[in-house]
Amino acid sequence: MAPYNSIGILTGGGDCPGLNAVIRSVARSCFKNGLKIWGIKNGFGGLVENQITELTDAEISGILHRGGTILGTTNRDNPFSYPITINDTTTYQDKSAQALDNLRQKSIDALVVIGGDGSLRIAYDFYKLGLPVVAVPKTIDNDIFGTERTFGFDTAVSCACDALDRLHTTAESHHRVMILEVMGRYAGWIALHSGIAGGADCILIPEIAYDINSVLKKLNSRKANGKQFSIIVVAEGAFPLGGNQTVARVVEGSPEKIRLGGVGEKLAREIETITGIESRCTVLGHLQRGGSPTSFDRVLSTRYGTAAVDALLAGQTGCMVALQNNQIIRLPIETIAGKPGNVPLHFLNFGRSIGVCFGD
Ligand code: F6P
Repeated sequence: MAPYNSIGILTGGGDCPGLNAVIRSVARSCFKNGLKIWGIKNGFGGLVENQITELTDAEISGILHRGGTILGTTNRDNPFSYPITINDTTTYQDKSAQALDNLRQKSIDALVVIGGDGSLRIAYDFYKLGLPVVAVPKTIDNDIFGTERTFGFDTAVSCACDALDRLHTTAESHHRVMILEVMGRYAGWIALHSGIAGGADCILIPEIAYDINSVLKKLNSRKANGKQFSIIVVAEGAFPLGGNQTVARVVEGSPEKIRLGGVGEKLAREIETITGIESRCTVLGHLQRGGSPTSFDRVLSTRYGTAAVDALLAGQTGCMVALQNNQIIRLPIETIAGKPGNVPLHFLNFGRSIGVCFGD
């Protein structure tokens, strides 16, 4: 007999291609095993505000290929430090007991949390209060410790690669340096994969402080070889040797307040000033997060969804499903949350072998 009868599901943090595919997969697995499934709207905020409705087959049909999340999401509402605004003044209160009470009222006895690092930490705090929780690793950044892939990453890379193909033709026509700034927070996964797939000459990632002289050397050597243009992919978290990351904005109320961005334009100006080569920067931004998931992400999302329900059926909670060696495994959330998921430097070797400059 299944240890749980009624499961809640929520999507937390930024949206990401494949969220709907996970929701569909979890819901279908629940239906197959005779479990009820409840959708919690707008992330952890909906748990506090009691925005919880039962999901039916009709609601989860036709969503596999759709970007975004049918449940809505937010990266601001942490029930353990929940914003309450009265007369323009915001204070933060612990509303976790209210959230648990909302679940109890609907007899929801376990929760599937689809989220990134911030959501994992909140999920773990609920687990410590006795709520059975299974997490599914979501983020285009691929920066969650313990899993080789988060769903959404493949779609973001494919979007960035498409942008690079387009920038290539315009760079070539105008004999310019074209820079593509991609997302990724403090990890260089999107930059590395899209840069390799898109044939970039330089790939600058947060794992290596870049030396502008090394970038200039690469541009000059291309020129000396008769190449009239160059392509650079720069991760939003990349920074120059002796310098800092470029902060685009600060988002109050978000567990991770800093939003990175702007390094690409700075780099373009610097290259143009020093070399005289016309340089342009394109910031891909949220295009990387929108639209349909790739087939890879649809399959991975579906595998993660069924694995999350399998974990619940096995009575194994407090864990995150993860991909390792193409197998889905379960890892205790406490061994993952808060740990960095950066690019190991040996992953760059194949790029180095084909002459890519990583700024070092
Ligand atoms: O974590 C996903 C991500 O898209 C990062 O790559 C990026 O730094 C951040 O979220 C942007 O956040 P927001 O949507 O709040 O601007």
